[in-house]
Amino acid sequence: MLNIALPKGRLGEQVYEAFARAGFPCPSIREDSRKLIFTNEAADVSYFWVKPSDVAIYVERGAADVGVAGKDILLEYEPKVYELLDLGLGKCRVAVAAQAGWRDNTQYTLRVATKFTHIAKQYYHSVGRNIDIIHLNGSIELAPILGLSDVIVDIVETGTTLRENHLEVVETIVPVSARLIANRANFKFKTASIERLVRELSKGTEGGA
Ligand code: PRP
Repeated sequence: MLNIALPKGRLGEQVYEAFARAGFPCPSIREDSRKLIFTNEAADVSYFWVKPSDVAIYVERGAADVGVAGKDILLEYEPKVYELLDLGLGKCRVAVAAQAGWRDNTQYTLRVATKFTHIAKQYYHSVGRNIDIIHLNGSIELAPILGLSDVIVDIVETGTTLRENHLEVVETIVPVSARLIANRANFKFKTASIERLVRELSKGTEGGA
């Protein structure tokens, strides 16, 4: 039985469709219910829905054999998992953004609001800029508007959230997409089915056979 952690939401639904096409279907998952676990004994597969930022924890600790997590989460938390495949879904980027027309004044410590504190620290360390990190959990875009920070480091997908709040991208830090990850120990016991999953999934991704 392959245990798969899917990120709850629109991305997770796209990912399930890809897994079903890859030979791991579980039709009961389409039931409109609050259930979190769906099993298909015939296909030897069990899916569970978890908060997107928690997928890597389930996989790292072996509660799930495989899962799908954004590259942003993998860079931020550096879970000890195998990263097996770029699914080419959920494409976006982690970027620095500020109020339109903002210019950096390097005489001052830069105040950076973000939930990606590790990515932000690494990025500013690499460019040699002193920063003061302000950790927030959501609505990051408010911070520069209210004067809580100079810039934000956040996910930009369509750019709508920035535009509607009169913010603009200053710099892209890293492109992001959904990755298939696997628990290191479980990979050894379930190599055949995980490799079949990777092979079949890669047929449906860009650059796949
Ligand atoms: C993310 C991110 C931005 C928004 C960007 O938030 O934090 O607010 O999406 O998308 P856009 O460029 O298409 O407007 P999300 O909806 O994931 O919720 P969050 O506030 O919990 O991060």
